[in-house]
Amino acid sequence: MAFILGFGGYVPDRIMTNDDWAELVDTDDEWITARTGIKERRFAADDQSTLDLAAHAAEKAMEDAGLTAAEIDEIIVATDTPEAYTPDTASFLQHRLGCREVPAYDLGGSGCAGFVQALDVARARMLLQPKRILIVGVELISRLMSWKDRSFCVLFGDAAGAVVLGPEDGRAELLDVVAGTDGSKTEILTLKTGGTRYPFNAESLASGAYQHLDMDGRRVFREAVHRMSTAVEDLLENTQRTIDEVALVIPHQANKRIIDAVGHKLAIPEERVYINVQDYGNTGSATVPFALWEAKETGRIRPGDLVALTAFGAGFHWAAAAIQF
Ligand SMILES: CC(C)(COP(=O)(O)OP(=O)(O)OC[C@H]1O[C@@H](n2cnc3c(N)ncnc32)[C@H](O)[C@@H]1OP(=O)(O)O)[C@@H](O)C(=O)NCCC(=O)NCCS
Repeated sequence: MAFILGFGGYVPDRIMTNDDWAELVDTDDEWITARTGIKERRFAADDQSTLDLAAHAAEKAMEDAGLTAAEIDEIIVATDTPEAYTPDTASFLQHRLGCREVPAYDLGGSGCAGFVQALDVARARMLLQPKRILIVGVELISRLMSWKDRSFCVLFGDAAGAVVLGPEDGRAELLDVVAGTDGSKTEILTLKTGGTRYPFNAESLASGAYQHLDMDGRRVFREAVHRMSTAVEDLLENTQRTIDEVALVIPHQANKRIIDAVGHKLAIPEERVYINVQDYGNTGSATVPFALWEAKETGRIRPGDLVALTAFGAGFHWAAAAIQF
């Protein structure tokens, strides 16, 4: 059995509003609000890196769990915006936190589903051997994205979220996780340049291709609604629960209209769907663990609550998790 022993979340101080973006690209608050629901997002300071954000969230989660770094047995970091090309962010984090020489690895490239996928991996690892696993979702997208392409830049923000999973009967039991991938849809959301097929070179630097995200927004939208809602339905079937028993659904926060459509498909009232996209935008793998931490901190989750996490990301990946508080 796997329990969540501690929760952590962190966003940088710098606020970037829609009006701030309107000064840099051809956009306005009205368009961004109507199409996405986003009003502002947080951007890391110039001297912060992915590791700094991850460490803040991880330290809070360990403190919340009442554990020291020496008591962590494994580390998983989900990110698409790592500290370095190699090695992975988890290696840097292990050293920064002062953990023992435990296994540490990244789940990278799975976009915004990475953290919930990591919960699935961690749960399976705990079946082999009970241990305390630190799981972090972190993104510093503002550093790597193009600040000139209005179609993407207004959507994203920087953040980190973390949990510590352990075998002790803690505050929240991880009941089940479902996950899946449809690799036939890689083309609807992909940053191709920088890999071996399209290496980073002088040409991609000059054209800006190394920062260009290919995104078919409407197809991503449709897939996101379908996969996130179906994943929750699968979860309910596996755990023999009904949607009426779910106190809160925490979906990936890419777009308020996607979140509303998922709530509608699941037939769950809006007050039982967690929404913070207006304050932070899409923070990739950090979105779900940060929202989980924030929901707990602000009293939106109470003892006894059944909570469903659901996420989608480039791949096309999806994953959902049921947590009994
Ligand atoms: C991206 C998204 C907000 C666009 O909304 P949409 O209603 O589909 O809008 P469209 O793509 O039809 O674009 C409409 C117009 O707005 C323009 N536009 C795009 N970004 C703009 C911006 N920031 N400001 C003003 N206009 C913008 C487009 O150029 C287009 O103009 P045109 O009609 O003259 O060509 C929406 O499709 C979406 O959120 N999709 C999911 C994407 C996602 O979740 N990605 C991350 C996954 S983790």
